[in-house]
This record gives sequence, structure tokens and C-alpha cells, in this order.
Amino acid sequence: MEVVAQLPFRQGALQTAPRLRELRSLGTVHRVRTAMGDEAWLVTGHAQVRRLLDDDRLGRTHPTPETAARTGETLFDAVLGDFATEAADHARTRALLRPHFSPGRMRPLRPRVEALTTRLLDELIEHGPPADLHAMVAVPLPILVICALLGVPYRDCERFRAWTAEAADVGDPARSQRGLAELYAYGHELVARKRVEPGDDVISRLCAAEGVSDAEIAGLSMALLFAGQETTVVQIGMGVLLLLSNPDQWRALVHDPGLVAGAVEEILRASNTGGGGIPRYARRDLEIDGVAVRAGELVLLDNGSANHDPAAFPDPDRMDITRPASAHVTFGHGLRYCLGAPLARIELHAVFTRIATRLPTLRLAVEPDAVRMRPDAVTGGPAELPVRW
Ligand code: HEM
Repeated sequence: MEVVAQLPFRQGALQTAPRLRELRSLGTVHRVRTAMGDEAWLVTGHAQVRRLLDDDRLGRTHPTPETAARTGETLFDAVLGDFATEAADHARTRALLRPHFSPGRMRPLRPRVEALTTRLLDELIEHGPPADLHAMVAVPLPILVICALLGVPYRDCERFRAWTAEAADVGDPARSQRGLAELYAYGHELVARKRVEPGDDVISRLCAAEGVSDAEIAGLSMALLFAGQETTVVQIGMGVLLLLSNPDQWRALVHDPGLVAGAVEEILRASNTGGGGIPRYARRDLEIDGVAVRAGELVLLDNGSANHDPAAFPDPDRMDITRPASAHVTFGHGLRYCLGAPLARIELHAVFTRIATRLPTLRLAVEPDAVRMRPDAVTGGPAELPVRW
């Protein structure tokens, strides 16, 4: 099939690229070229994306990684792990991590997340307007929460955050490698410390589990960091941007903060306008909506486009915090559904409840289109959020 689009699509933070919009109207499976120049399939329909996210004919590994099409948009690129043992490896990792996100584990974290959020907003309010809500709230909160989850001592959080930012700078591979190396070295050091002096945290509990090596615990900790840090920064930033550029929706939330649960789901749905996608490789030949996909080919499951499929979400470009939005696939679906979703939701609820109640007159200090977006970071999102109140 002929290549019909080059990734990435050029688009503003809140608008879908015209070409992507056109492709969606033509079908659900499209032949595209990635930023690295390799061919791939881009799947844009909600029903298809949701089904394929839970289909074990697609995976994250490739039998010959050196020949695999590359996305060029993620930190580790799309190929992750060993083709022969993928299902068993993934099951083991998921089983090791899942208990740390159970309702029982989340309950005591909620007041800690709320206290951290309150503290960051106190600092913002003390600073006074104009202020950069991105730098003062969206960036620090997720890292502080992950530090609490992993048991990173408070005094190390700033160094930890700086290495994470370096590692995520995919535009500068040397800097990114340096950040990663520092993080892994620190992770090993932390595991060694927790073996001697355990605390009430994920690393200590993994140390207590049978048959888990120090290297594996350090690796799992870093996986949580990468899975839960930038993703949450982006959702907080995009949520603020979406709410403040839709003043009627912002006023509705300020008027009734009880709408926050729906607002969070709508932010999660609306924040990604599509064009990227969760990468998978076909483990065997398969057919997607009548299109033949060959074993080994790269398939991008565009969850942002799925979240804007009018068949699933009527009038998808309209932000509506009262719509039923929870069928969004922002956390994925099925086999690899985001383990951290309950924690991310706690963070987003804490932030948007507090912003709405403490800063009811909040507004952007610049036009929405003038908000700078991050071109280099792994997951995009705003680079700044200049606000007044
Ligand atoms: C709003 C913020 C977040 C978003 C949008 C998000 C999104 C996602 C998505 C789309 C996946 C599935 C990837 C795939 O199918 O290949 C995923 C998986 C995962 N996420 Fe999240 N995530 C967020 C926050 C977090 C947090 C806070 C944590 C933990 C601290 C976390 C931990 C994980 C883990 C461990 C996986 C892997 C699950 C597996 O492979 O079985 N995420 N996330």
C-alpha cells in the first residue's frame, strides 16, 4: 500500500493536523512513514485500537531488532525485550508490579499526594502572578510522587528529577544517555541501601520478594519512573491548557468541583489529538479492517485518534467535562493497561480539585496558541504555562 503521510504531523497543541483529520475520515488503517524514515501502519479507529491493544498477535519485541522499523519518538525506541520470551517476561514484570498499585496500596498514598499538591500550590500562590504553573506544579508533582512511591529520600529528589529531565531529552542523545546512566547508578545504590534499611516503599517490598535480583529491582524502579513521570507532567499541563482555553468548562468546574472526576477523564481523552501512537510489532501475519499486515511490521496504535473517533465520542473536538469519557484509551487497554492509572488519577484529581477551589480566577497569561510546546521531550505537552489569577 502507498505511503500516505509522513510522521510526525505538524499540529498545534489543541488542534488535530488537517492531514490526520482527512486520513481518519478515509479509514482506520493507514500506511505512514515514521520520523526515522521507516514504514509503519497507523491505526486510528477507536474500536480497532482498543481491540489491538489487547491482541497478543502484536507485541513490543521483534525477532530481528536490527531490521525492525523504528519510530524515533520514544526514549528506548519501540523494540523492547526478547521475542521468544516476551509473553512470559511481561507476565512476570506485571505480576511483580501490580500489587504495588492495589486499592490497599493507593489508599495511604492519596493523602500524601494531596499534601504535596497543597504545598506546591501554596508556593505558587506565595510567588504570586504571573507564574509558570508548568514549572511550579506540573513538573515537580509527579516526580515527588514517584520518589514517595519508590522511597527515594527527599534530599535526593532534585538530583533525581534533573537526571530524569536529561534522560527524556531525546533531541540530545548524549545528554539523554548521561541522564540514564546516572539514574541506573543511583537506582542500584538505592536498592543496596533498602536491603540494609527497608522502608514502606516499592523498592523495599521488591527487595523482600523472593528471587528478584538487585539489577531487576533497579530496572523495575526505572521503568516506573519513566512510565509515570513525563506522562503525568503532560496530562497536568494539557489539562490546565484545555480547561483555561475552554472558559465555560473551567467555570463549570470552579462552580462545582464535584465534577472533577468527569473533568479528569475528559482531560485524559481530549489531551492527545493523535498522530503518534503506542508502538507494536506484528508477531504474525494478520488483517486489520481488511488491510493485510505482515509479521514483523510496525503498527502504531494511535490512542489520541481513537479518543477523537466520533463513533465513540460524539463531537470529539468539543471539550465537555460532563460527557461520559471513560472509554478513552489514554492508559492503553487490556494486556498492558497502565498499572499506574489509579495513581495518575489520584494526582490529577488532587491537582484539578485544588486549582479550581484555590485559584478560581485562574487564566492563561498568553493566548492559548502562544503557549510554547516541548518539541524534544518524549511525550510532548506544554513547555510552560504562564498564568495569572
Ligand atoms: C496520566 C499519566 C499516565 C499515562 C497517560 C499513562 C499511559 C500508559 C499507557 C498508554 C500504557 C500502555 C502502554 C502499552 O500498551 O504499551 C501504560 C503502561 C504502564 N504504565 Fe502508565 N501512564 C500514566 C501514568 C503512570 C504512572 C503514574 C505509573 C506508575 C508510577 C505508570 C506505570 C505504568 C506501567 C508500569 C505500565 C506498563 C504496564 C504493562 O506493560 O503491563 N503509568 N501507561
